[in-house]
Order: sequence, then C-alpha cells, then structure tokens
Amino acid sequence: MKALEGIKVLDLTHAHAGPISTMFMGAMGAEVIKIEPPWGELNRIFPPLVKGVSPYFAFLGRCKKGVTLDLKHPRGKEMFKEMVRKADVVMENFSPGTLDRLGLGWETLMEINPGIILASISGFGQTGPWRDRRSFDSVAQAASGYMWLMKDDIDPNGPPHKAADAIADTIPGLIALIGILAALNHKHLTGKGQRIDVSQMDAMIAVMQSFSFWNLAKTTFGRVYDNRVDPAFGLHRAKNGYVMFMAPEGRLSDWFRELLGIEELERKIVEEWVSERTVEDVVETLAETGIPVAPVMDLGEVMRNEHALHREMFVRVDHPTIGETTLPGFPIKFSETVGDITTPAPLLGQHNAEVYRELLDLTEEELEELRREGVI
Ligand SMILES: CC(C)(COP(=O)(O)OP(=O)(O)OC[C@H]1O[C@@H](n2cnc3c(N)ncnc32)[C@H](O)[C@@H]1OP(=O)(O)O)[C@@H](O)C(=O)NCCC(=O)NCCS
Repeated sequence: MKALEGIKVLDLTHAHAGPISTMFMGAMGAEVIKIEPPWGELNRIFPPLVKGVSPYFAFLGRCKKGVTLDLKHPRGKEMFKEMVRKADVVMENFSPGTLDRLGLGWETLMEINPGIILASISGFGQTGPWRDRRSFDSVAQAASGYMWLMKDDIDPNGPPHKAADAIADTIPGLIALIGILAALNHKHLTGKGQRIDVSQMDAMIAVMQSFSFWNLAKTTFGRVYDNRVDPAFGLHRAKNGYVMFMAPEGRLSDWFRELLGIEELERKIVEEWVSERTVEDVVETLAETGIPVAPVMDLGEVMRNEHALHREMFVRVDHPTIGETTLPGFPIKFSETVGDITTPAPLLGQHNAEVYRELLDLTEEELEELRREGVI
C-alpha cells in the first residue's frame, strides 16, 4: 500500500517548482494526471535532448500519467471542469492570473468541487506589488538574498553567485507539498478544500537561517561557520583528494586528540596528519572514531557509493524512448507504506485514452474527434 493511495491530482505544473511536488505525490501513491497543452510543457525541450528526451523531464516527469488538453478550447475547459469534480488536488505554477484568464480560477473550481485543493506556486505570490512578475529559479535566488549569501561565503568582494542546482524551485516545491498534505488532512476533517499560495521568494526566505544570524548578530551562518577556530573543522586536503570533517570543541575534539595521541589540537598538526594519508584512510579512521566525516565525491562517485546504493538512492527507470536509465531514488523510507519513483516520465499524451475513458467515459470515436480538433 502507498500512503497517498486514493488521492487524485490534476497536475498543470510546468518547469521545475511544481513538477517536483507532484512527482513526490505520485511516488507516494497519488494518481497524478499531468495535463499538458497539446504542444507539451516547457521542460520537455530543456537541453540537451537525449533521443528527443530532456534529462530534466525524465527526472521530474516520473510517477505521472500524461495527457494533453487544450485549456483554451471550450471543449478542453469543459473536460477539465468535469475532471475537477472527481479530483482532490489541482496544482499549477503558471504566472499569477493565468488560471483566471482561462476561466478556471479558484472561485470557479471551488464552485465545481468545494472539496478541491488548489495549490499554486509562483515567483512572488498571488498578492503584493511583485505579484505579476514571472520568475525562474535564478530570479528567486537573487530576490531572496540567496545569491548575495553565496557571494558572501565564496568571496565577499566578488560578484554574486547562484547555487548549482535549482534550489529556489525545489524548496518552494517541497514547501507547497507540505501545504498540500496539511490541506488534505483539513479536508479529511471538514470536507472543505482550500487555496494554497506559495511563492518562490517566500519559501526561500522561510528556510534561510542566515536571516536570524543577520538580525540578531549582524552576521551570516556562513561567516560563523567559515571563521570557526576549531583546528579540526572543515575541508582538508588528503594525498588523493578532499575530506570534510567536523570535530568542534567537546567530546568530538577530545576523540580527535586521543586518536592523534596529543594534548592540544593544532590546525597545523591536523593538516599534516591528513596530508600524509589517503582520503579513504582518513574517512575510515575518523568515522570509526565517531567524528562526522565524508569524502568530497563527484556525481559519479556518489552514484557508485556503496552506502547510497544500499539506501536505494539510485534506481533503474525503464523509459519507452531512452531505455534503461539511472535516476535518484525515493528518500522517505516508510515502515508501513511503499515509496516508488521508478515509473518513467510519460510521452506526450501517452495516457490520453486510458485517462479520458476512465474519468470522462469517452468512447474511441469521441477521442478521435478530440484529436482531430486539436483539443487533446
Ligand atoms: C515559468 C514561467 C516564467 C513561464 O512563463 P510563460 O511560459 O510565459 O508561462 P505563463 O505561466 O506565464 O503562461 C502559460 C501560458 O500557457 C497557457 N497554457 C498552459 N497550459 C495550457 C494548456 N493545457 N492549454 C492551453 N494553454 C495552456 C496559459 O494559458 C498561458 O497562456 P496565456 O498567457 O496566453 O494565458 C511562468 O510560468 C512563471 O513565472 N511561473 C511561476 C514561477 C515558477 O514556477 N517558475 C518556474 C520555476 S522552474
């Protein structure tokens, strides 16, 4: 059994921030119906295309059924409304106002189904002076202070820096997912749906501990962290690569001292000790001593790592076009329910017949007519 079994999600999301939410819902058992315009969503063409498939879409499109539907076509709107009647959640991350322009805004959806949960992610929210602005990850990294923080950490006198992966999409996506799960519980208790409004900028601000360091002590988390005087703290260079370990003052530094057989830990002694050994040697020894430590691994090394493999954090996904590929696994290990993230991203409109037959009772002739008219 899966934890979200029985939950039906109409997924209008595109790009990254919305699709990561619905992917995890699908992995936990929700029936996620990804509704794309007949020409496909943004991420289908994010380069480089491998056999015509974007690595981005292959990653985020998993655990969803794929249908096409032109929401600007009157028949498409009617079909969508009919599906809203039977759904628990509608999720979207268009620029604010888009759903209203389509005639499918919150009031309309709620009238059709008072139990519906409408979750929206946007750059800056559904209210406020910046409401109408479009946004991508980097824009939200800039607007939340995150790019300034990266620069402050790397080189306070240098240019701003962006985090390498799209964290200002992922974090809002996960925050929205928390909201959806809470709203499902509220619906379970009261029968009522609700509107969820998550902005990329808000979500980033909400998780950044540096705002607290800044307000209370005019510093940042990174500055405190980098200026730690503990001799056995941070990145160290071994014979064949880098090792990260942390033994702050307390029992962890006591253990380090005992290991080296010295009274006083000094940075120079620690650096020398590391530089004379291999990464593997340092990691084994420190881990055994109880000190938090890891080798600095590249992506290939992580994918081959025995521990990540034991935790099933890389899974084989059999995609109809690209064949077998390896993708990140599902990170929540439930004791009672299954999390499975191996269903491949759908081809464009792959599940049209299955979904529309089941949800809308459409016949093959009706489907053919909808195809001819470009509605699906
Ligand atoms: C990502 C973003 C910048 C893309 O901008 P965009 O491509 O101009 O997309 P918008 O959301 O503004 O508009 C989508 C358009 O596609 C149309 N569309 C979407 N699904 C459709 C469907 N199934 N059928 C017909 N039309 C559809 C919408 O109606 C809208 O058209 P309109 O502007 O003529 O009304 C923008 O969607 C955005 O700011 N989103 C919120 C923040 C976010 O999540 N960013 C992405 C993070 S990865």
